[in-house]
This record gives sequence, C-alpha cells and structure tokens, in this order.
Amino acid sequence: MSVQKFYITTPIYYVNDEPHIGHAYTTIVADVLARYHRWQGHQVFFLTGTDEHGAKVAEMAAKNNMTPKQFCDQNSGYFREAWQLLNIANDYFIRTTDAQHEQAVVEIFQKLYAGGFLEEREYQGSYCVGCEKFLSERDLVDGLCPDHKRLPEVITEKNWFFKLEDFLPQIRELISSDQIKIRPESRKNEVLGLIKEGVLTNFSVSRQKNKVSWGVTLPFDQDQVSYVWVDALSNYITAIGYPSKMEEFNQWWPCEVHLMAQDILKFHAVYWPAILLALGLPVPQSEFIHGFFTINGQKMSKTIGNVIKPKDLVSRFGADATRYLLLSQFPFGQEADIREDLFTERYNSDLANGLGNAVARITNLIEKNDIKIDWSKISLPDSQQWATERQKELAEYRFDLVLNAINQRLKNNVDTYLSEKKPWKMSAGPELDQVLGVVAVEIKLIATWLLPFMPQVAQQILDIFAVEKIVKAPILFPRLDLNS
Ligand code: MSP
Repeated sequence: MSVQKFYITTPIYYVNDEPHIGHAYTTIVADVLARYHRWQGHQVFFLTGTDEHGAKVAEMAAKNNMTPKQFCDQNSGYFREAWQLLNIANDYFIRTTDAQHEQAVVEIFQKLYAGGFLEEREYQGSYCVGCEKFLSERDLVDGLCPDHKRLPEVITEKNWFFKLEDFLPQIRELISSDQIKIRPESRKNEVLGLIKEGVLTNFSVSRQKNKVSWGVTLPFDQDQVSYVWVDALSNYITAIGYPSKMEEFNQWWPCEVHLMAQDILKFHAVYWPAILLALGLPVPQSEFIHGFFTINGQKMSKTIGNVIKPKDLVSRFGADATRYLLLSQFPFGQEADIREDLFTERYNSDLANGLGNAVARITNLIEKNDIKIDWSKISLPDSQQWATERQKELAEYRFDLVLNAINQRLKNNVDTYLSEKKPWKMSAGPELDQVLGVVAVEIKLIATWLLPFMPQVAQQILDIFAVEKIVKAPILFPRLDLNS
C-alpha cells in the first residue's frame, strides 16, 4: 500500500507587512496539521512563503531607500525568522521573486495565452496602492479607501484579462458537489452566493509596465507585467516543480488543503480553480477558511498601534505556549476577539498550574519513592476511544476542542485522581506503583497528543518519562505575573 500524502499550504504573505499574529495563526495551524499527519505516517509537504511583487512593495522599498529586491530580502527574512521562533517546520519556503517561480510564471502565462484564456481589454478602475487592488464603488467610504484613508488613483489602461466567466458554471458544480470542499459550510455557501449573484467577472491579470514595474514581464507582451493573482496563486504549483519537474509535481498535486482567512476566499475558491482548469490541472481537494480576529475588540492595524508580533508573544510565553494560546481560545473558522489580558491568565491556569505542575508533582513522587514504572503492565481502558474522538475533532479543524479535551483529561485522570488516591500518604508497595504508573501513562498519552501543538515541551515531557530512573522535572512553564 502506498503511503498517504498530505500537501498543505498557507497563503504566501505580503512582504510589505511585518509578520503579525494573524499570519502566525494560519501558519501555526498548518504546522499543527503537518506535524499531526507526519505522526500518522503520512508523507507531508507543508508550504509557506512570501508574496513579493507589485506596486506597494516598490513604493515601500523606495521609501526605505532600498531596491525592491533588498526590501523583499529583508522582509521575507522577517517572516522566516518569525516561523523559526515559533518552531514552524515547513518543508519549503517560496518567494515569488525566486528565479524558478518567475520562470514558471512566464510559462504559465504563455500557456494561458496560447490556450485562448486571456483577452486584452481597456481597464478603468480605482486603484489603491495600499491594498494593491482595484476597489469597487462599494468598497469606498467617502470616496476613500477605508483601510488606508487615501484617495484611490483612477487608472485607465489596456490590460490582459483572464476569462473567468467561461469557467463559472464548472466551478459552481465543483464546489457544490464538494469536489473542491470549502469549509466551514458557511464559506462554501458564501462562494456559491457570489457566483450566483453574477458579481464575478473576467479579471485583469496584468498591469502596464510603466506603472507597475516590479513584476514578471509577460512573454507575449513586453509592455505588461503580471499582476497579483496569477503570480501569487501559482506559487502553490511552482513550489512543487510545475512545470519543469512534472514527476515531482504529480507526486504532490492536487493539494489536500489550502488554509487562509476569509479575506482571500474568492481568489482561492473561484479564481484559482479556474486558472488550474485552464492549465488542464486538477483543482485543490479542499480549502479551509478561518475567521479574522480582532485585538481587544479592534481590527489589528498599524494606525491603531495594536499589532501583536509573534516575537513579542514568544518572548513572554515561549513558542509552545504561544501556539497553545492562539489555538485553544476559540474555534478555528470563527471570527474571534483576542484579549491580551486573558493570555497570561490562561497561560497560568492551563500551563503553569495545569500541565507543568502535574508533571512536576508526578515526577517528584516517582523520584522520592524510587519507583520503576513497568509500562507494559499499565493500560488505559479508554485511550483508543479517546484518541478516535480527538482524530475526529482534528479532521474538522477543531483544535480548540482537542486542546480542551486534553486539559479535561489532565484534570480528571491526573489531578482529581491524585487527590482521591493521595499517593503521598501511601507506603511503598504495589498500590503506590499502580497509582503513579497510571498517572505517568496518562501524562505520556497527553504529551503525545500535545506533540503537534507544543512540539518542544511535549517532547521534553516524553523524554523525562523515557528514562529508567525518572527524576523530578524542571519547571516547564514559569508562572507569570498578571500585571507585568
Ligand atoms: N499575499 C496575499 C495572499 C496570496 S495567497 C496566493 C495576502 N497576503 S497577506 O499577508 O495579507 O495575508 C493574508 C492572510 O494572513 C489571511 O488570509 C490570513 O491567513 C492571515 N491573516 C492576516 N490577518 C489576519 C487576522 N487579523 N486574523 C486572522 N488571520 C489573518 O493576502
């Protein structure tokens, strides 16, 4: 039997922004899934990267007295550093300025052109350099871009358009039949609604080079450069070898899941499958869309000054706890508000007083009583059933439920069990061996399930219990002062 494969992607993040916890959230989830599938013995390819072309990047680079390339190198580096800090084990990091990607984009454009999927059209639109997109009348507030509070530029120019409309009936069918499985269900309905409303039209895929020069020149029109979506979306196939290494490509494509927040749902659920169909390639198997979160009730923004960077959280809580805190507090998929004050509370209750304290207590008792655990003698009657339930939750992307179930198990089967049995009052003998053996096996089960979520500390716990003579564990999660 061949090994099951699992190809998972995050969006590639705009390099004009520094990594913040919105980006980190998607990336951590992808990492948890990747680690979980590796643990299940699947062949995993986990892709993330940076989106580097466009007017905004060129504009920001100039402001910083850098060439676009220098600016991209620097900022793409910030993303890589952030992912390292968070222990993200991606298999590849793509940059849209990689020579291999740029060459592949040229070939993709050539194929789309040769296949008759592009048309030249006059384009007029209100373009916000900040958003790097054309805004519709509906998007504007008092004539301004609501995000950047600036007047969009009115641009009229000849561009190449991708003939999206020809594909819409087919895409609608693929989505409604779950051949492209869009989840949560509400997002699937949202996309089907967009298609039905008729608001999705042929879209422009290029810009005049004299306006936007930081991009890939089209092979059939030297005056135009690629514009955003064909260049960006195609990273998912160029990263695995399309079109030059087709054997490697066919090994991974189609991907099992694209992860993203709702802001780019339309592009992934409609534009991207259409581009793939035009290239004669299979469509993605599934796309999972999570909510945008706000910070203390407000949108995260530089102007408000409430942007939380991954490195700030890591320096306070450590990588494992940061991952835990971001994933445990609300259901993936829903919009949620992050309350910074609750982070410390949650850290202290679940990790310092919960898991960390339990490990310290148990290992202390084992060391004091000089217990040698005979692992083969202890089995937990419900562990199989419990694992099956967690697997189901993971299949539905309910990381919060998995983590809550782990906490609950720790409370019931370790904390409460110990308070009832009171091993500290027992004298040496089979009963004491049994009680401490049971809690040790419980902790091992819990740590094993925590491996994808908190890889370092979970491995540390497993290592503590892996030796013949177990000794008291160090402090895994130092308690934090609520007011500092
Ligand atoms: N470059 C495009 C994507 C191209 S993919 C082919 C882009 N980049 S982005 O830097 O703006 O990142 C968008 C993604 O970052 C979202 O889809 C989401 O995964 C994540 N998030 C950004 N802000 C977020 C929140 N406030 N909350 C949750 N996730 C957020 O769009």
